[in-house]
Amino acid sequence: MKTNWLITGGCGFIGARLVNRLLAEDRPPGIRVLDNLSLGRPEDLAALTSFVTPSFDDLSGPSRRVELIEGDIRDAEVVACALAGIDVVVHLAAHTGVRPSLADPLGDAAVNVAGTLNLLEGARRRGISRVIFASSGAALGETEQPITEERLPAPASPYGAAKLTGEAYCSAYAKSYGLGALALRFSNVYGPGSKRKESVIAQFMKRAVQGEPLEIFGSGEQVRDFIYVDDLVEAILLGAAADLDGRFEIFQIATQVETSVNALAEMIAEIVSAETGEEIEIRRLPSAAGDLARVYADISKARRYLDFDPQTTLPDGLRNTFRYFAQEAGSINDTDRLPSRAATS
Ligand SMILES: NC(=O)c1ccc[n+]([C@@H]2O[C@H](COP(=O)([O-])OP(=O)(O)OC[C@H]3O[C@@H](n4cnc5c(N)ncnc54)[C@H](O)[C@@H]3O)[C@@H](O)[C@H]2O)c1
Repeated sequence: MKTNWLITGGCGFIGARLVNRLLAEDRPPGIRVLDNLSLGRPEDLAALTSFVTPSFDDLSGPSRRVELIEGDIRDAEVVACALAGIDVVVHLAAHTGVRPSLADPLGDAAVNVAGTLNLLEGARRRGISRVIFASSGAALGETEQPITEERLPAPASPYGAAKLTGEAYCSAYAKSYGLGALALRFSNVYGPGSKRKESVIAQFMKRAVQGEPLEIFGSGEQVRDFIYVDDLVEAILLGAAADLDGRFEIFQIATQVETSVNALAEMIAEIVSAETGEEIEIRRLPSAAGDLARVYADISKARRYLDFDPQTTLPDGLRNTFRYFAQEAGSINDTDRLPSRAATS
């Protein structure tokens, strides 16, 4: 029997890549995307597949091959309709990032806490037994490194606190109602499809394709774990197939490879030089507050239970990402291109 997936935030960076991966299956599942289009665009989905936009009255049966519902996870009625006929939920829709949450903590909580709770409640009422929640390393915050599922969380931002609360509700719904839920704590995700993102790699790429200097804030010795989007999508698929039996589990999803921002910038400069023959300058600027010095994860649990094994090396992933940004250069607008500061969180 065909499995029907609801992907919230499915027009976004990771969501669109997940849709694309599901469409490549031998027997593609039914896919329904729920997105308020605050960041993702229908064109991003249209570039992958044709889709229908059903009316809410039309949502009682299982989803057709690909459906897009323009709607908000803060709206419980919309969420309830979107869950009709669904077997697996991948909850990606979010107010994303540490800095936006510092500027608007209440807006962040409305989407990331109340929106997530709407979704869990809707899933419980529909008897859905599999929810995958996109959490983040930020849920752990300033804790001992490497981060593992056992560490005591100490969120250092409203975004991290909201993701931790989402995890707490997943746990509560599993224990109270037997809803099988997984929280995958993604590290820094990069790759093709990220032109609307403000992550450090997306910002470096936007500058690199314009021939502008890569700007490093502070010493550049901040360490992060960068995971290629296709490896991350693989983790979601492994999570969806895992035997949960109504339990809740958390997994760190990363590569377990530490890379400093300096090393990252140098790798990108080398790729630009090899791909275009142009030399890119690396410029250092004063540091800004709020950046954690070192964030890296131990992924033993995901390796053991999910058979998760990230495959893409950073140079290979960066090369693919640079080619994507070079191809998209004309469609990246000014607000996408030069924000005040690249985010390493
Ligand atoms: N990209 C990363 O490095 C990273 C790291 C850790 C965790 N995550 C988490 O993974 C998930 C996906 O991240 P992404 O990078 O693809 O983000 P993204 O911003 O590209 O995509 C999020 C999508 O959700 C939609 N959306 C936002 N608010 C919504 C709402 N209220 N109702 C319905 N749709 C809404 C947006 O329009 C967008 O299409 C998020 O939950 C994010 O917090 C991402």
